[in-house]
Amino acid sequence: MPQAQKGICAEPNLHALYLMFNVHEDHDEEVRRILAQILNIFDHYDDEHYEAMVSGVIAIGSNYWMELYPGFLPAELAPFPDMHCEDRHAPVVPCDLFIQMRADRADICHAMGTAVYDALKPHVELVEQIKGFRFLDGRDLTGFVDGTENPKGMHKLDVAIIGDEDPEFAGGSYIHIQRYRHNLSKWNQLDVPHQEEIFGRTKTDDIEFASEMKKPFAHTKRTNLKDANGNSIEILRQSMPYGDMKEQGLFFVSCAKSPQPFTKMLESMIFGDAHGNYDKLMDYTTAETGAAFFAPSVDFLKFQGMS
Ligand code: HEM
Repeated sequence: MPQAQKGICAEPNLHALYLMFNVHEDHDEEVRRILAQILNIFDHYDDEHYEAMVSGVIAIGSNYWMELYPGFLPAELAPFPDMHCEDRHAPVVPCDLFIQMRADRADICHAMGTAVYDALKPHVELVEQIKGFRFLDGRDLTGFVDGTENPKGMHKLDVAIIGDEDPEFAGGSYIHIQRYRHNLSKWNQLDVPHQEEIFGRTKTDDIEFASEMKKPFAHTKRTNLKDANGNSIEILRQSMPYGDMKEQGLFFVSCAKSPQPFTKMLESMIFGDAHGNYDKLMDYTTAETGAAFFAPSVDFLKFQGMS
């Protein structure tokens, strides 16, 4: 089985650096080579600072993939799903490359980011750079623990990594990102019981409400979905808080072996159920970006980097 990129299933870290790039016209051959070298940059920092739990992900934009790797098409590659309903939007801001670097040290993320940018600089435009951080005991800036119901252990691989269903791309993962900007002054006006209703969990202790107690507009009601056979529809969330004193929110990252689970969840959040019960969390946060990527296996990136 080809090796998946380490950052896809990595355990939560204290720090992240997310870099988004667009590639200059006709620089694809150089970029193919450099992406393979960036794997060596990740390995170098991982070896030198193994205590910092270093990991990386290189993901290629759905719109750019065919230019970079013509003739190789992941079975379900698709653009980010464009959705809006009333004042709820999932804007699409495509970009060619998404590079996620994570570690338990901010200086290591910075050093890796510098090395990655130095390698790519002649061939790309840096579109966005976001620093993610762990907030308190793994909480979103709304104050609620984020990631509790994420798949765990080996189940992460089942959810996030392609296996036999697309053998040519085994070890790969479909990545969706959205930068959400929170309206924390509005959120903080809500009392805790109302905030808890919106998540369907308690705030301090992070305990899930019983299913019959969850409101139809609760975030965990809208995102806890089952398929026609009653199986859970799942993604692996690798999101982290970001921001400064002016704007802050969640840098949302979803990894899955198909793009469909993310799309179904986002539909359920934005359009809601048959009675119009959309995800009330959307009244307190706004997606400002959204993009779809494919993160191929380490083997694929290395092989393509040689040609
Ligand atoms: C600002 C945006 C978001 C925030 C602040 C947020 C925060 C949270 C929190 C606090 C939880 C409960 C604890 C947990 O299980 O992690 C949760 C659960 C979850 N979220 Fe989000 N989330 C956001 C966006 C999204 C999006 C865009 C999706 C997918 C399209 C999503 C999918 C899920 C799923 C699948 C769960 C677990 C539901 C369950 O089985 O109980 N979230 N989120």
